[in-house]
Amino acid sequence: MRPVKLALLGCGTVGAEVVRLLHDQAADLTARIGAPLELVGVAVRRPGRARGDLPVDPGLFTTDALGLVKRDDVDVVIEVVGGIEPARTWLTEALRGGTSVVTANKALLAEDGAALHDAAAEGNADLYYEASVAGAIPLLRPLRESLHGDRVTRVTGIVNGTTNFILSSMDATGAGFQEALDEATELGYAEADPTADVEGFDAAAKAAILASLAFHTRVTAADVFREGMTAVTAGDVASAKEMGCTIKLLCIAERGPDSTGRESVSVRVHPAMIPRTHPLAGVGDAFNAVFVEAEAAGQLMFYGRGAGGTPTASAVLGDIVAAARNRLTGSRAPSESAYADLPIRPIGEALTRYHISLDVADRQGVLAAVAGVFAKHEVSIATVRQSGRDADATLVIVTHQAPDSHLAATVAELATLEIVRSIASVLRVEGGN
Ligand code: NDP
Ligand code: HSE
Repeated sequence: MRPVKLALLGCGTVGAEVVRLLHDQAADLTARIGAPLELVGVAVRRPGRARGDLPVDPGLFTTDALGLVKRDDVDVVIEVVGGIEPARTWLTEALRGGTSVVTANKALLAEDGAALHDAAAEGNADLYYEASVAGAIPLLRPLRESLHGDRVTRVTGIVNGTTNFILSSMDATGAGFQEALDEATELGYAEADPTADVEGFDAAAKAAILASLAFHTRVTAADVFREGMTAVTAGDVASAKEMGCTIKLLCIAERGPDSTGRESVSVRVHPAMIPRTHPLAGVGDAFNAVFVEAEAAGQLMFYGRGAGGTPTASAVLGDIVAAARNRLTGSRAPSESAYADLPIRPIGEALTRYHISLDVADRQGVLAAVAGVFAKHEVSIATVRQSGRDADATLVIVTHQAPDSHLAATVAELATLEIVRSIASVLRVEGGN
């Protein structure tokens, strides 16, 4: 059998582990595929960089990624560089030219996945991207294949390891956000610039990919409502604990009717309180977990390591095997399924619950005035707790479910009341009612 030729773009955290697995498991991979895999080039930014004991011929390194992609003897391009450009140019070129692609690039898929799918269709090539969401966890293949006979209604997940580590640490130790972030940086979970993680951009990209697959609709990162977790305080975490809850950065993708009754999709990423009995509440450390609800299958839970070189490389290798087999047999990966083409429902129509902490003056009529604002915006109050007194009272109000726009209007009006000194925090509450 002729070898299946691979070009690797990127040899950093993930790429180096892809090289190691290709080397260490060469015999098994050959047996499973029916032909050996041959690495014919590795594109990097700094070819002279020391790469430890990486089992790769130094002569394979190049800075000419485009040249590698254009080689007509390459069967599969593996992209583990990241970012939008030049990755988009490389992958579009490869796919259009009939070369299959395996990528971990969630940012690119969430921004312009449609263009990549179109290029794959044009070139009759495969586009695999299991590693782009939740690292090692087999999640996209189940959505893309196993659940294609079912109707997925909701996907709820913890898809960012860094923020889950931070929130789990705040919950366990009572630490504040900055202290927990410093710990995550020290342990190598958070990057030097953690913006993409803590502001929810990374989770929003993953949410877009999940929603596209789950609902057969093109969803981009721009369609996802996003709120980061930098405003979550130690006080919020303590308050959640008192309610039997914990705080997680959730990605929530739902299918359902919009305000006019039309079937639509809602996708959001934000911190939320969830009951400690919820299956996602026990997901600690930097782990990821995704809870999928489908009409026939019911509830499914996927759990594991969502980041790190070796776990992510495991997902990349699985895709390489699939793409290599297809090359040998002349078959194709499942093509994009976007036939449903559902409209995106705005965040204002999402049904959720709020946990609101208000610093108020403790005097007659304050509770009635506050309750009046909730009633005016058709928001039903579930519980009210007061702590402190006189000038230092705090009211903690948890609502029943209501459209997010009603809840947001309630908070906006509360902020204008003379009796409300400040709105200490507003958090959504998910799971249970
Ligand atoms: P790294 O920053 O560790 O590695 C990036 C690699 O790309 C390096 O080898 C770098 O070269 C190379 N590179 C950068 N720019 C260029 C360029 N212009 N031309 C050629 N090569 C270039 O990234 P990761 O391995 O962490 O991530 C790779 C991808 O995997 C990203 O899309 C990321 O989102 C995704 N991913 C990462 C996970 C993780 O845990 N790290 C988890 C899931 C997905 P050099 O070595 O010379 O610097
Ligand atoms: N920064 C990401 C995380 C890496 O913390 O989950 C995996 O995509």
